[in-house]
Amino acid sequence: MSIRTSPRLAAIPHYEPGLTTAEVLARYGIDSAIKLASNESPFPPMPEVVEVVAAGMQGLNRYPDGAARALRRALAERHGVGPDEVVIGNGSCDLILLAGQALLDPGTTVVHADPSFALYPHLATAAGAEGIAVPLAPDDGHDLDAMAAAVDERTRLVIVCNPNNPTGVYRSADAIERFVDSLPEDLAILVDEAYYDFVDRPDAGRIMSLARTRPNLMVTRTFSKAHGLCGLRVGYGVGGAGWIAAIDSIRQPFNTNALAQAAALESLKHPHALERRVREVMSERSRVASALAATTWAFTASQANFILVRPDSDPAAGSSGVHEQLLRLGIIVRDGAALGCPGRLRVSIGTPDENSAFLSAQAQLARSAPRETQPGRTAK
Ligand SMILES: Cc1ncc(COP(=O)(O)O)c(C=O)c1O
Repeated sequence: MSIRTSPRLAAIPHYEPGLTTAEVLARYGIDSAIKLASNESPFPPMPEVVEVVAAGMQGLNRYPDGAARALRRALAERHGVGPDEVVIGNGSCDLILLAGQALLDPGTTVVHADPSFALYPHLATAAGAEGIAVPLAPDDGHDLDAMAAAVDERTRLVIVCNPNNPTGVYRSADAIERFVDSLPEDLAILVDEAYYDFVDRPDAGRIMSLARTRPNLMVTRTFSKAHGLCGLRVGYGVGGAGWIAAIDSIRQPFNTNALAQAAALESLKHPHALERRVREVMSERSRVASALAATTWAFTASQANFILVRPDSDPAAGSSGVHEQLLRLGIIVRDGAALGCPGRLRVSIGTPDENSAFLSAQAQLARSAPRETQPGRTAK
């Protein structure tokens, strides 16, 4: 017999995780595969972080610091805010979900871009609220004017993903500042900067400073990407005291585990090592983009650690066919069909060897496909 559940559950979009490496090996009977599907760091955590985590295991019989005081203090100092303007989460996903729980009710709306991060539509459905999904502009970035126009008196939350997942397009700080200024001062705005570290524009970081002066703004970042700690789950938000109090009032008391707090704190102490890793990802992103530009596959210029590509697919098979062919060659990328981008593939930037393996598989498949697009043109 089934249990009684909320009718909202039926409406929650089903999240289809990508295939694991083990699943791909078993399914295609191959010996090795590389995973460029989840926008992870190709590098393990820094050695000092691994040491701190190993040492921290001795204390796992104790609860973590529920207020994550040391990490909050370190992040507050880094961003020039008070510790009461920082909140720590079990990954930044935790904070995004908590924002939905704290702010939304039936009859209210949340405005976000589409396609964008798959978690956003979930917030509205889980709260019985309405999600207003605003299509991206033709350049694959947020259509901020259309998003502003979608805001009305029912709107409780606006989310901007910058750079946007899955397209990688970055909106300038000026554009976002104008957008924030155009909205009511008491409307909560969340700017999700999960891929901030990979932005190579001079204005990167300015929206975080804006959070110091706009109490209705919260910027979230994560240790999952550049810091290589996604397996531990730790992210944070910087925002006005009202934002932080709203999240704090609804989060579970020990939402971020002790090892994650210690690892994040240690990782912050090695900015040069972080910078080297980030530079390598950026330089590989340029190399992959240049290589793709010389082929018949189109792509969207990215400011994140992934590139959204449009294969000149086998017309019979579509991009899912190309996705499948790449899997057979041991290259795991994300099928855009699962991300709201049918006909495209999202390819994470890996190590130089992994990227070269992707490019050589891509060259095989591109050569075997009909040449119907202009070399080097970008998607759309
Ligand atoms: C746009 C965006 N925001 C947030 C996250 C969540 O990151 P985490 O919960 O690992 O901090 C991701 C993860 O892929 C993401 O793409």
